[in-house]
Amino acid sequence: MPVTRQITLASRPIGLPTDENFTIKEVEVGEVAPGQVGVELVHISVDPYLRGRMNDAKSYVPPFSVGGPIQSGAIARVVSSRAEGIEEGDLLTGIFDWQESQVVNPAGYRKLDATGISPTAYLGILGMPGLTAYAGLFYIADAKEGETIFVSGAAGAVGSAVGQMAKIKGLTVIGSAGGPQKVSRLIELGFDKALDYRGGDIKAQLMDAAPDGIDIYFDNVGGDHLIAALEASNDFARFALCGSISEYNLTERSQGAWNLFRAVQRRIKLQGFIVTDFMDRSRGFYEEVVPWIQEGKLKFDETVVKGFENTPSAFLGLFSGSNTGKMIVTL
Ligand SMILES: NC(=O)c1ccc[n+]([C@@H]2O[C@H](COP(=O)([O-])OP(=O)(O)OC[C@H]3O[C@@H](n4cnc5c(N)ncnc54)[C@H](OP(=O)(O)O)[C@@H]3O)[C@@H](O)[C@H]2O)c1
Repeated sequence: MPVTRQITLASRPIGLPTDENFTIKEVEVGEVAPGQVGVELVHISVDPYLRGRMNDAKSYVPPFSVGGPIQSGAIARVVSSRAEGIEEGDLLTGIFDWQESQVVNPAGYRKLDATGISPTAYLGILGMPGLTAYAGLFYIADAKEGETIFVSGAAGAVGSAVGQMAKIKGLTVIGSAGGPQKVSRLIELGFDKALDYRGGDIKAQLMDAAPDGIDIYFDNVGGDHLIAALEASNDFARFALCGSISEYNLTERSQGAWNLFRAVQRRIKLQGFIVTDFMDRSRGFYEEVVPWIQEGKLKFDETVVKGFENTPSAFLGLFSGSNTGKMIVTL
């Protein structure tokens, strides 16, 4: 039986994960049975939500088991097929084990369309992060032309899509990110204002950047960014609560937003959401977003780490901001 490399969760992280929480081991690759395909991973998506799956806690996705494979979105090439409609060389996308070669039932995967757009886009702008941005902006925050939006984590996969989609729809866009290079990139992408949260107090910067207030906050970061957005909000603002990456590795309970009462005073609507609730709207999303990409209105940055064995360090890099745009591992 041929063997392949698999990355497993060696132990549950406490606080910020480290390399020691991951192991690479060799496992056997099974036979391809009728209805199945053999695949080799080509690109792996590493995403902040995987951190939550490393805890032994009930959430909207079950935890990884210690000793078992990590899984995430990926693109794989079919190397042998015993399934109707799937041929060698086809590219499949969906959730795969972090395992170089594996056998799967293709019913759980999507064959990539020939849009002429790079396959890695299906892990970012045309994949889960892109749909997250679109759903949060239009279905949760109900974004409208002429409004002002603040998006945190704005240089990342979700945030950069949110800001550009909002610009396409005629909003004024303020983004925050860590460091001068990311802030410059946001301006190149068309953001009206970009704030470096590492360079000074985010609340003071936001109040200065939005003297007439914000109508929408798209929250990827939580913590001090959420507090700042509550202070800067207008009456009847909408907050799309997408993520809270500043809190994923806390070892003590979060202090929360001390000024949440602003939501009462200003009649703010705060709504959390999970992208998987919007999968049935994927078709409408593709129909609108694919032309934006093809026409050059919507750009997507990628940070590519090479080598299967570097997947854990690429994942860890999300928490120090080593990515601009979508963090991808290419095998
Ligand atoms: N609700 C959903 O269905 C859903 C779906 C996808 C993603 N999400 C959430 O959306 C957010 C963005 O995800 P993504 O995939 O697009 O990741 P990403 O933004 O591409 O990567 C993570 C970024 O977070 C920033 N960051 C890390 N630690 C931070 C901290 N302590 N304070 C402020 N910023 C910090 C870093 O950028 P800087 O260099 O700018 O700090 C880093 O590049 C995450 O919170 C994620 O959990 C939610």
